[in-house]
Amino acid sequence: MDDKLDAVDLNLQNYIKLNIFPKYDKYYSHGMIHINNVIDNMMILADYYNLDKNMAYVIASYHDLGLNVNRENHEYESGKIVSNDKELKKYFNNEKIQIIKEAVEDHRGSKKERPRNFYGECVSDSDRDFDIQILAKRQLATSLKNYPDLKTFDEHFKSCYDYICKRINSSGVFNLWTNNPTLTQRRDKFQKEYLNLEYTKSIYKEEWDRISEDGTMEKIMNYYEDY
Ligand SMILES: [Fe+2]
Ligand SMILES: [Fe+2]
Repeated sequence: MDDKLDAVDLNLQNYIKLNIFPKYDKYYSHGMIHINNVIDNMMILADYYNLDKNMAYVIASYHDLGLNVNRENHEYESGKIVSNDKELKKYFNNEKIQIIKEAVEDHRGSKKERPRNFYGECVSDSDRDFDIQILAKRQLATSLKNYPDLKTFDEHFKSCYDYICKRINSSGVFNLWTNNPTLTQRRDKFQKEYLNLEYTKSIYKEEWDRISEDGTMEKIMNYYEDY
C-alpha cells in the first residue's frame, strides 16, 4: 500500500478500490491515470493543511464519476453519487458528507466562483494538469473525440496548444485557489515549459505516435465514453 495513503482508513480504501475505481474503466482522459494524479495532489494538500485524509481521498476518488451521466454538469452528478452512497455514511456524518458533496460539485477549474469550502479549493487545484506528458495524453484524446473534423496531428496540436496558451495569456497564470507552494511552483515550471512551442510539440507528437501505433487512438474513438 502506498505510504501517502497511510492515514486513509484501509476499509474505506478497499471499498473505493473495489467499487468506485472500476467505474472509471470506460474513461480515458478522466480514467485512473487522471484520478491517481488528483489523489496524489489532494494528499499533498491534505498533509500540508492538515485536512481530514479520509475526506480528501473520497473527494479526489469521486470527483469525475458523474461524467457518463451528464458530461456538461458532471460535477453535480458526481455530487449526487456521493449523497446516494450508503457506504460513505459508515465513515462520515451528514455534515462531512455535505462538505464532500460541495467540494466535488465545485471541482471544475473553469469555474469563476470560489469553491464553497476549502476541500473544494483543494480538489479544484488538484484537478489541474501541470505536467505536459499527462496534459498531452488527455488533451489529444479530448480533441480527437470532440473535433472529428480535424484530421492531422498538426491540426489537433494547434487546437490544443492555442487553447492552453489562451488560458495562460488571458489571466497570466492558471488560477490556484489555495496558492499552495508545491502546486504554485509546479504551475510556474509547467507554464514556462509549455510556452516553448517546439518542446511542447515534440511531447504531443510522441504521444500522438504512440496512440496511433498501439491501438489507443482507435479505442478513444470507439470504446472510451468520456471526452
Ligand atoms: Fe471534472
Ligand atoms: Fe478531474
